[in-house]
Amino acid sequence: MLKKKIEDICNRQVEREGYSSNLYLAMASWAETSGFAGVSSWLYAQAEEEKMHMLKFIKFINERGGKAVIPAFKKPPADYKNIEEMFAEVLKHEQFVTQSINEIVELTLNEKDYTTHNFLQWFVTEQIEEESSVQAIIDKLRLIGKNSLYAFDRDIMKMRTATPEAE
Ligand code: FEO
Repeated sequence: MLKKKIEDICNRQVEREGYSSNLYLAMASWAETSGFAGVSSWLYAQAEEEKMHMLKFIKFINERGGKAVIPAFKKPPADYKNIEEMFAEVLKHEQFVTQSINEIVELTLNEKDYTTHNFLQWFVTEQIEEESSVQAIIDKLRLIGKNSLYAFDRDIMKMRTATPEAE
């Protein structure tokens, strides 16, 4: 049975993962209408992953005797100046999510909730992967400069975040 404090912070994460999914959908739509087919395809896939993250939290809360609450999501930004700015926002957002997961990990240790602590390890690993894959994209963008954005866009179409095996 989940303690109320843990249930609440896991529900906070339901909102954050769901918002992440919508944020990446909004970015995908912007990229798609700005001529970046590859980037938009990467973002649509990311949006699906974030939805899966949200579902993992929902299922976990409910299976542990809590109640997952589906929140309203704030509207994500619809426009970006350029692709560099957009990926900088992706990295910033993933760092925020990592911090958020770490706060839950810390609370589970304080509350001696080792079951939830164990559940969170998948997310700890996933966040390392997500941050490094976005950082790799930003590094690539810096290297190629503006003249090769077309090749970059085709390249990224083949890139996917490696995801640890979902249960
Ligand atoms: Fe679910 Fe990208 O954090």
